[in-house]
Order: sequence, then structure tokens, then C-alpha cells
Amino acid sequence: MDNLESNYIDISFALLKRLNRPLIFDVYVKRGENSFSKIFKKGDLLDFDRIRVYEEKGIDVFYVTEEEHSLYCIYVEKLGEVLNERAQSFKPNEAHEVLKELSQHTLKEIQETLEVSSASIKNAKNVVDGCIRRVSKDPKNVIKVMKLLSHQPYQLKHSVSVSMFAVLLAIADGMESDLNIQSVGLGGFFHDIGIGQLTFDPEDQKFLTAEQRKEMWRHPELGKEMLKQVKGIKSDVVQIVLQHHEQPNGHGYPNGLRGPEIYYPAKIVAIAYAFCSLISKKSYREAYPVSKAVEKLKEDHGKYDKKILETLTKLVLPNF
Ligand SMILES: [Fe+2]
Ligand SMILES: [Fe+2]
Repeated sequence: MDNLESNYIDISFALLKRLNRPLIFDVYVKRGENSFSKIFKKGDLLDFDRIRVYEEKGIDVFYVTEEEHSLYCIYVEKLGEVLNERAQSFKPNEAHEVLKELSQHTLKEIQETLEVSSASIKNAKNVVDGCIRRVSKDPKNVIKVMKLLSHQPYQLKHSVSVSMFAVLLAIADGMESDLNIQSVGLGGFFHDIGIGQLTFDPEDQKFLTAEQRKEMWRHPELGKEMLKQVKGIKSDVVQIVLQHHEQPNGHGYPNGLRGPEIYYPAKIVAIAYAFCSLISKKSYREAYPVSKAVEKLKEDHGKYDKKILETLTKLVLPNF
């Protein structure tokens, strides 16, 4: 047993197995409630025969210490870059693992620091480009990535699934420019980062008090403020974050914009988040089945752009 005082964080087995150079962090397995053993040390090459023995024993979760987790994150960031340079060198499950681990690391950093660094923007672009590639191959890959994220905190699942659905919707809606599609994906990924600055977690509650509702209305502005100064972010991504709760009927927030005044990509993200929110289980209700979720969005007419809603219907009913 080592490092008794440390906390341990699980790492992706599929990604660990891709490592073909000496380790830059120690790797542990869990022996019991609070006991971990070091099985590989820094500088070692992975011993695949030993890994196979662990697999045969049913051990397929490996850990790093909290202190060395940032070294593992560097490895994940690097994989995000490789994924976009040489996507063909990844098996589909490995690509999905990179997307999960990289988005988790990127959003956690933002939540903890309440700041967006230019490194976070770069990582988010790698996530979004990877997502674009996966969903263009097969829209059902969204479901695979969502499954991988199923045990993660709500905001993380929500950001990644909204990003992927927004990309799918943009493509289905006829958006052609790769850069515009990337902006929609980034807008989806970052749309709710302002929520981290609120004094409460809106996802835990079915109803908000008047006070909380007022605070909630500020999250698009807060998100915009977090993003607008960062190097490498385009202004259309900032506009999406600011406008994702505007409604064509003028009843949205923060500015009560009407139909054509709302930025079109923000309307796409608005439908993607509303749909993703309905098909997710909340602490106070079950998840809506896909067809019921579409029906519900259509009942709320006025809140959403009609044309994009039609595109969503044609997209999700046959595919999901
Ligand atoms: Fe929001
Ligand atoms: Fe949202």
C-alpha cells in the first residue's frame, strides 16, 4: 500500500492501454474500501501481460493519486490533439473515451476556477471537433457518448450532450461551414458555464423561488463575461451563450429578444438544450421518452423556432 494520505482518481482503462511510452504517473488498483496498491510506477512501460491478469480477475479500473492527476490530464489533452490529427488511429470506443475524459477535465477546471483559460478553449475545440466527426459518421454515437457520461455530474453530461445535439441539428438544418458548425458545438459546450457562479444548483429543484429565478436569469450574462475576454474564442460563440434562453415569442431572457432578433445559432442551441434536458432524468422526475420530449417542445409553441423544431423532429424520431 502506498500514499495512505492520498485521494485517488479513476482513469480511463481504454486510454491507459494506448500508452506506448514510459508512464509519467504512478498507476494504482483498489484493494479495498480505502486501500490502493501501486502496480506501475513512473518511468515504467506498461506490462500488458500483467494488465491481462488484472482483466481476468475482473479488475479494469485503475487510479492515479490526486497529486498526479494533472499529469494524467496532460496525457488526455495530448490525446485530444492526436484525435483530431489522426482520428483513424483511434477505435470508436477510444475516441469516445477521449471525448469523455477531455470534456470532464476541461469543464471541471472551469467550475473550480470560475475562469476560462485559452487552454480550456483549445481543449473544448478538440472535444467539439471530435464530436462533429463522431456524429457525422453516425448520429447514434451521441447515445454512446451519453452512456459513457451517465455517472458524471449533470452539468457535465448536459454540456456534452447539448453540444453534440446542437451540432447534429445544425448539420441537419443545412449549415455547411465547418467553422459555423464548430461555433454551434462550442456554444452548446459552454452555454451554461455561468451557472457555476450562482449561489444554488438549479438542477436539484423543480421550482425556483422568485429570488432564485432572478438569479437564474443572470447566468447567460455571467457566461458571456467569463468567455468574452479569452483569447481564441469567437464572438458568435459568446452570442450563443448570451442568447440561449431567448424565445421567439419575446418571453425569454436576458433581453426579451423576438424572432428574427435572436441569433440563429442560439436558437439551435436553445432547442438542443431543451430537448436534452427533457430526455434526462432529474432528481424530481423521470426522463421523457424521445417522442414525448418532441411533443412537449411542440406544445410550448412560441418558445422555439418552428423550422428548427421540424428539423429536430425529422432527426430524432427515426434515429433515437
Ligand atoms: Fe442555460
Ligand atoms: Fe442548459
